Amino acid sequence: MRIAVTGAAGHLGRHIIDSLLARDVAAGDIVAIVRTASKAADLAERGITVAEAAYEDTAALTSALRGVDRLVLVSGSEVGRRLAQHTSILDAAKAAGVGFIAYTSLLNAETSELSLAPEHRDTEALLASSGIDHVLLRNGWYWENYASNLDAARATGHLFGAAGEGRVAGAARRDYAEAAAVVVTTDGHAGKTYELGGQPSITYPELAQAIGTVVGAEVSYVDQSVEEYQQTLEGAGLPTEIAQMLAGWDVAIAGGALETASTDLEDLIGRPATPAAEALAA
Ligand SMILES: NC(=O)c1ccc[n+]([C@@H]2O[C@H](COP(=O)([O-])OP(=O)(O)OC[C@H]3O[C@@H](n4cnc5c(N)ncnc54)[C@H](OP(=O)(O)O)[C@@H]3O)[C@@H](O)[C@H]2O)c1
Repeated sequence: MRIAVTGAAGHLGRHIIDSLLARDVAAGDIVAIVRTASKAADLAERGITVAEAAYEDTAALTSALRGVDRLVLVSGSEVGRRLAQHTSILDAAKAAGVGFIAYTSLLNAETSELSLAPEHRDTEALLASSGIDHVLLRNGWYWENYASNLDAARATGHLFGAAGEGRVAGAARRDYAEAAAVVVTTDGHAGKTYELGGQPSITYPELAQAIGTVVGAEVSYVDQSVEEYQQTLEGAGLPTEIAQMLAGWDVAIAGGALETASTDLEDLIGRPATPAAEALAA
């Protein structure tokens, strides 16, 4: 059985390939779809087929996907362009006769107030009308997203945010990657939707404690208004547009966008997800 992974030279894609290999998929049965082949030279050296195909290039994607049985569609990273990119990938998958797709969506995609959610909802709808068997992997936040807070925490003793008492059911990228490898190497996942997050979910004050463990100092959470937090981010050098987007995400987090009680992640990978401190220390 041949398995392809998009975004294969990225962080999650590389973990997925490692997880496939760890699950005894032969390197020769893995197709790594990448935008720039030179970024995946190490994968080619390991015997993996590297196919260069931008998400916009349906013809190149179709040729990369010929002979592929199952595809892990790692969602694109260019917000605002992703629906067109995912449409192109699905058109290619149909043309190439791919039988099964695992799509990395967003936790609580149906109801999420995160600005990232509409593209995931629209992609889920595309998949539903594609006629291709598929599974939705609704990934929660990567703990690694908070790695950029470590230096500020070291310098100030604080984690800043606007998430209030909102809880985050996060996990390490490698946990989500393992779940993706499980659903494409075992049967019975077509038509399923998995809400993936680590248990127990934690609040930002608890996240600050975890960051404190990593930096070896006491770190406390400072809850700001959305306007104050945006200013904090701009003060740290982020462009206004990005600061506004990140502060907006915290408002959604305060409203529960990244909270779940689902145990789908640990059920799929057969172990608890990686705690925040451990993921951030790595
Ligand atoms: N759950 C979360 O917390 C979270 C956080 C961040 C992102 N995400 C989502 O999860 C995905 C994987 O995360 P990640 O950390 O692995 O991101 P990443 O390291 O940025 O990897 C994304 C990969 O997608 C490739 N890519 C982007 N646009 C492409 C295009 N137009 N054509 C072909 N390849 C393209 C990139 O290629 P290049 O190397 O050539 O740029 C990169 O290798 C992201 O794309 C995003 O949808 C989720």
